[in-house]
Amino acid sequence: MSTERLREAGRSVAASPSWRQWVRAEWGFWRGVAYDAQRFRRHAWLHRVHSTPSRAARMLADAHFLEYGMALRAARPGFGLARAERLAGDLSAEGAGTEAAAIGLATLRLWADFNAGSTLPPAVQTALALPAPAAEAGTQTLTADTLRSATVLDFLAFAQARHSVRQFAPGPVPHDAIRRAVAAAQAAPSSCNRQTCHAHVWTDPALINRVRSHQAGNRTFGHELGGIAVITSDLRHWEHAGERYQAWIDGGLFAMSLAHGLHAEGLGTCFLNWSVEPATDRALRAEIGLDDAQLVIVLLGFGLMPDSATVCASPRLPVEAAFSLNPPLA
Ligand SMILES: Cc1cc2nc3c(=O)[nH]c(=O)nc-3n(C[C@H](O)[C@H](O)[C@H](O)COP(=O)(O)O)c2cc1C
Repeated sequence: MSTERLREAGRSVAASPSWRQWVRAEWGFWRGVAYDAQRFRRHAWLHRVHSTPSRAARMLADAHFLEYGMALRAARPGFGLARAERLAGDLSAEGAGTEAAAIGLATLRLWADFNAGSTLPPAVQTALALPAPAAEAGTQTLTADTLRSATVLDFLAFAQARHSVRQFAPGPVPHDAIRRAVAAAQAAPSSCNRQTCHAHVWTDPALINRVRSHQAGNRTFGHELGGIAVITSDLRHWEHAGERYQAWIDGGLFAMSLAHGLHAEGLGTCFLNWSVEPATDRALRAEIGLDDAQLVIVLLGFGLMPDSATVCASPRLPVEAAFSLNPPLA
């Protein structure tokens, strides 16, 4: 059999590729790299903020810097002056009407209280006078008791009971369950609390079919899904070159938390990879009308659990394969 014909589910499974496949893979790799790099470059605020979402992300990041300083054991009045001034400038430019700005202003107020007695820069004083919608901000006390009572579940059993499910019961997925799962995903940590991720969710069967038609890995079971989520990160929330992969990191954390959130609601889930060529990415984006600044991280299919379903064992390697305790340093 020629190596060209050794394909399954749209992918080559040849043990050693022909030179033509080699060239095609090499070309595809560099084309993908260029596609990702250009999109990051176009939207991230590498040199200066030039969009409202970038400014919102910067306000959240600066507010986080201030709350961080106030939460330290050795909290030191006077810290964060430059961040406070930049946050104040963004607040004056944007107003305090958005959720990010409200968090920014509430944090700035608490930071000003924390620094009571010091003279605040005029830009900060101007921002403090802005009308402020209420927002939770600053620091809070987390007690060991609160933590204990909120974590009574056996997390290992919970995590090990999740399997990729590819057989679903018919019927609508309750929207409240999805909403709770997204709230759980929002609880995932995010870089400087910028919260760049979004779950675009469809539960209407006709719309699910349109979305899933762009993803190869659901072909054998996707018609049973009760919902599909496209998880994205907003590239306008990222700042410098070092953050060029941060969207995938924060996106992965958000996605896994969403999967666990749906699992906690008793729903079955299956990740659907988005390791695709630029043309496929463009086609999905066009189908769902996705803003160019949104980077697709991964898709997640889900649905009602039948009374019983066959799932892959997908055995895990011994825990030592994923874990080194106190390895010797170089
Ligand atoms: C990012 C990602 C993409 C995946 N894509 C697919 C997919 O397209 N189709 C599919 O059936 N399973 C997909 N999976 C599921 C994996 O095959 C599965 O997680 C793995 O075999 C471990 O099994 P488990 O999820 O049941 O523990 C994906 C998983 C991840 C994390």
